[in-house]
Amino acid sequence: MPATKVVVSIPDEVPYDVRIGAQVLDDLGNSLKRIPRVANASRVVIVSDTNVAPLYLAAAKESLARSGFRTSDIVVPAGEDAKSVEVLGEVWEALASLKLSRDGAIVALGGGVVGDLAGFAAATYLRGVPCVQAPTTLLAMVDSSVGGKTAINLEAGKNLAGTFTQPAFVCASTATLSTLPEREWACGCAEVAKAAVIDGDDFFFWLCDVADDLAQRDEEAVIEAITRSVVFKAGVVAADQKESQGVRECLNYGHTLGHAIEKLAGYGTFSHGACVAEGMRFAIRLAQKEVGAPDELVAAQDELLDGLGLPRLGWKAAPEEVLSAMKGDKKVRDGKVRFVLPSDVGKWGLLHVADEAVLAELKEWFA
Ligand SMILES: NC(=O)c1ccc[n+]([C@@H]2O[C@H](COP(=O)([O-])OP(=O)(O)OC[C@H]3O[C@@H](n4cnc5c(N)ncnc54)[C@H](O)[C@@H]3O)[C@@H](O)[C@H]2O)c1
Repeated sequence: MPATKVVVSIPDEVPYDVRIGAQVLDDLGNSLKRIPRVANASRVVIVSDTNVAPLYLAAAKESLARSGFRTSDIVVPAGEDAKSVEVLGEVWEALASLKLSRDGAIVALGGGVVGDLAGFAAATYLRGVPCVQAPTTLLAMVDSSVGGKTAINLEAGKNLAGTFTQPAFVCASTATLSTLPEREWACGCAEVAKAAVIDGDDFFFWLCDVADDLAQRDEEAVIEAITRSVVFKAGVVAADQKESQGVRECLNYGHTLGHAIEKLAGYGTFSHGACVAEGMRFAIRLAQKEVGAPDELVAAQDELLDGLGLPRLGWKAAPEEVLSAMKGDKKVRDGKVRFVLPSDVGKWGLLHVADEAVLAELKEWFA
């Protein structure tokens, strides 16, 4: 299947391409030669993690070398803990030791953790060098590699220090997904489902039709799902790059309960995507009561998530405890819990829901 390309055009930013296809990593060097601010890079530093580097670092380096780039690499520990002040400091120091200069570039080769960390390092080292995202998880391909959010975690919470810095290019090589563990696959599928519900009928009903194929990693379905998700995300980010216009918040659909579960169950107990899927099931039921979401949509979304390998978690907690965890979220304003609630496919609003209504819905959910 041929590679596809999506152009991300954000006001006041240099437009960039997202290339999606089985073998696009092998073509990374050629692709970078076509990007003016990277084409003549004196050195390209690839940042990757201990799981991804043994699998794909050599291929990325070879492709860059074939196009005449001088390459180096920095390998960080795999997992969320790498998004820390300590590891960021190590990456900065390593970049300085490698004498990466302003005319160099960084490639983030890995999942969302490497993308966020290397993106932040690139945005801040020497006050900014270009960053190329080479995502290797489904989640990173459909979501985190596009849109320019970079971040590390602080003791006080996730993603509390970061920048909005758009990448120079995104290279989504679907061949790398062949080694992705099942749990991570389902995690990415949840973000695709989220995008489809928020985007509209065309994406949503297409996804309902191919849910099994996507769960089975059928190449055509995978490339199409990534392409549609990137087109969706690019549109959202173009309308609201810095989450200040009330548009980008649609990307938090399913996240209000999802984040609370992650926190209460303990980070890593369930995957982020599994928690988002649970949050979407909960939010659509709340939307039934609050904004009249139709019964058919609740059933269709349930069926879609089941088909994508995202069953109900069966996790329970005291409703009051869950409400309190929701209120601890950094997106809470004035102590009121806000939910992205779809009244139908493609129609959503950001609503403050009264504590009593949230508690009543949680009681029903856990019954
Ligand atoms: N910047 C954004 O807009 C944005 C959006 C959503 C999520 N995020 C962030 O993304 C992160 C989650 O990203 P993620 O789910 O990709 O997690 P991740 O980067 O931790 O990757 C998941 C696991 O899969 C491994 N892995 C990656 N690619 C692989 C491959 N091809 N084969 C085998 N193993 C592979 C990784 O080493 C890791 O163990 C979170 O930190 C989240 O905050 C950022």
